[in-house]
Amino acid sequence: MLRVCSNARHKRPGTGLGKPQLTNAAEAGDFAYDLTMVLTDRLLMGPGPSNPYPEATAAFVRPMLGHLDPEFITVLDETIERLRAVWQTSNQLTLPVSGTGSAGMEAAFVNTVEPGDAVVIGVNGLFGERMCDVARRCGAQVTRVDAPWGTPLDAEALLGAHPNPKLIALVHAETSTGVRNDVESVAAGKGDALLLADCVTSLGGIPVDIDGWGVDVAYSGTQKCLGVSPGLSPFTMNERARQRRVPVPQSWYLDLGMIGDYTSGATRKYHHTAPIAMIFSLHAGLGALLDEGLKDAWERHERCGTALQSGLQELGLELWAPEGHRLPELTTVVVPEGVDDAATRRSLLGEFGIEIGGGVGEWAGRIWRIGCMGHTARMSNVTLLLSALAQLLGR
Ligand SMILES: Cc1ncc(COP(=O)(O)O)c(C=O)c1O
Repeated sequence: MLRVCSNARHKRPGTGLGKPQLTNAAEAGDFAYDLTMVLTDRLLMGPGPSNPYPEATAAFVRPMLGHLDPEFITVLDETIERLRAVWQTSNQLTLPVSGTGSAGMEAAFVNTVEPGDAVVIGVNGLFGERMCDVARRCGAQVTRVDAPWGTPLDAEALLGAHPNPKLIALVHAETSTGVRNDVESVAAGKGDALLLADCVTSLGGIPVDIDGWGVDVAYSGTQKCLGVSPGLSPFTMNERARQRRVPVPQSWYLDLGMIGDYTSGATRKYHHTAPIAMIFSLHAGLGALLDEGLKDAWERHERCGTALQSGLQELGLELWAPEGHRLPELTTVVVPEGVDDAATRRSLLGEFGIEIGGGVGEWAGRIWRIGCMGHTARMSNVTLLLSALAQLLGR
């Protein structure tokens, strides 16, 4: 069967390759391979992924090495050392979990929670909800502490929700709402419980101090403020949590005991094939971040977030997350009355090459989520987005 690919998106400007291309699908199995398809560079200002640091992208072309090659082990060790610096921890069990942020979430729960364990979870957005789902699948007795979406969790309510929980969990930066939750206060009052923090959208963008705050378990994602492609989940667990680890977790793939035998120690026992190129990229991205300096990177995110938020207000838009609890790296704004959410986002993408995100759940169509994370967090990008929005909204 012959297939014709004539979609304008497949055109390579100036090469004449935009003519309809014939591909012989029978020869190519049942697929039409279109090697002329060109992808557009986007300015990624949605809830993630962000644009990666150039260093992180360049690292993908490094030579492939085996996962037990001593040169690769050196890169892995350095990556873990860099992760410790970014997490601000000396935790031995610090590593990049293979998989996106949700893999980190699963790893956190399956390694700490057994059927019947009492777990308290703060829920004020999509990712708190996801934590409840994951914990229930581990057989936990979940006590939810809800706050309305768009408002912060109440630390006292979380701490008083159960007399003796094994684990208290909350999301530091709720990407679905743009709200910052106070991990530090919950960690300070956790008592005998373990404290688990989702730092997917906070690590690298706002202060996260694992040892200083007393967080026992935390995970992140590479595609947000760390400025690396999606694919790994930086993870850390302290000695206190390690002592209480589930001996045989229900997930073989995410068994941190077995993974830890590969990522550290003398024997480097094979568990699963490490995603080599992603680790090269994370190594380079963390290098860029640490060369800039953690504090300078936090300040850059803060400056961009503040400029974006005041710029949006100057355009007459209403910010959704309450003042004092707003994330600089993820801004939520109310879609103005009479403005078509999807059409505006389509125009931003099509006419300006800028991606922003829509709301989720009940808030779909009612808010926009604008990320300014990692390499994207630059004043020039803020200016570009504000000008594009002003033009599209006629303000
Ligand atoms: C706060 C938070 N937690 C968890 C996740 C899940 O991460 P992933 O989509 O990388 O699996 C996300 C993703 O956006 C997130 O923002």
